[in-house]
Amino acid sequence: MHCSATPLPFLCASIKRKESHLCLHRTLLLKKKTLNPWKVRRMSTIPFISVCARAVHDVKFMDSHGSTEMDLLVVGPGVLGRLVAENWLKVNPSCRVYGQTRTMDHHGELGRLGIKPIIKGSDSRNCFPFVIFCAPPSGSEDYPAEVRAATSQWSGEGSFLFTSSSAVYDSNDNRLCLEDSPTVPMGRSLRTDILLMAEAEVLKIGGNVVRLAGLYKFDRGPHMYYLKKGTVDVCPEHIINLIHYEDAASLCKVILAKKYRGHVFMGCDGCPLSRQEMMEEVNKSGKFKEKFKGFAGVVGPLGKRMDNTKTRNEIGWEPKCRSFAEFLHISS
Ligand SMILES: NC(=O)c1ccc[n+]([C@@H]2O[C@H](COP(=O)([O-])OP(=O)(O)OC[C@H]3O[C@@H](n4cnc5c(N)ncnc54)[C@H](OP(=O)(O)O)[C@@H]3O)[C@@H](O)[C@H]2O)c1
Repeated sequence: MHCSATPLPFLCASIKRKESHLCLHRTLLLKKKTLNPWKVRRMSTIPFISVCARAVHDVKFMDSHGSTEMDLLVVGPGVLGRLVAENWLKVNPSCRVYGQTRTMDHHGELGRLGIKPIIKGSDSRNCFPFVIFCAPPSGSEDYPAEVRAATSQWSGEGSFLFTSSSAVYDSNDNRLCLEDSPTVPMGRSLRTDILLMAEAEVLKIGGNVVRLAGLYKFDRGPHMYYLKKGTVDVCPEHIINLIHYEDAASLCKVILAKKYRGHVFMGCDGCPLSRQEMMEEVNKSGKFKEKFKGFAGVVGPLGKRMDNTKTRNEIGWEPKCRSFAEFLHISS
């Protein structure tokens, strides 16, 4: 028996008294628009009783914690996820931000940042108006399933955002790459298959995707990887695209807050540069104790030149760090 197939009054009469109270609550939530009709349609295959159970749980939660409408769940509160959480708390000081992890290793740090830590699979409250998935595929046996599980933690109200990667774009000749450029065909690479399957899980429930370029900050990113190696056997002419962690976080925050449905965005600083140029900037800056020696490769796949003008215009966002070179110049 499904919510959408049977009139509510009939259903309520056919279940026990306690359950009819839950039914009324669901109707009230719909009237108050705290329960999104879109979400109700999406949940039409869920047995009515489980919708009711969730509603009662949400009521209990709201009773003990006050309003929950801007609450955010960060799945994978690593470097990016924590920055998104901090940004969110700044603009929504009365909301709660939850950080869902696999291990308890960083729960102390999360708590100190004002993020309520939750272990994956342990949370009794499983419905959040805003959800961002920031856990990388590494270390996950079934990444699309992890992402699917996170979509079931979204209430369907605010918005859901999945942080994907620009690796899904099928471009390896240093050509221009836009939001709607073709993606790598399924079956060519396990890495991109996994990302595209995860994206599909999100888009099919009305969530959004942001395909991020290489994330960096002073002590983390591709420049640090090359610097630690000293010499790397890859092609120096390969074009890479970057976005500073802080800018990626502000981009994610804006996308989340605008409550889009089923959009694909692109996150980059718009200043692509070759590997060679990036490491020359690092050496020139004099800000790192190591010196990069050089690239040993001569051939190899080239990259792409990402341009996210469409994303910027649509959401009204600009990165603060306009290029890697500018960042190195101003960082201390
Ligand atoms: N780094 C890049 O250049 C880049 C480029 C494009 C896209 N991205 C995407 O951007 C996002 C953020 O990257 P990041 O560098 O900020 O990541 P990160 O710092 O490595 O984040 C790791 C965090 O994810 C948690 N985690 C890992 N698997 C999890 C799971 N299955 N469920 C819940 N938590 C899990 C870890 O928790 P524990 O403490 O429990 O291990 C940790 O808190 C990721 O989605 C990544 O794929 C990154």
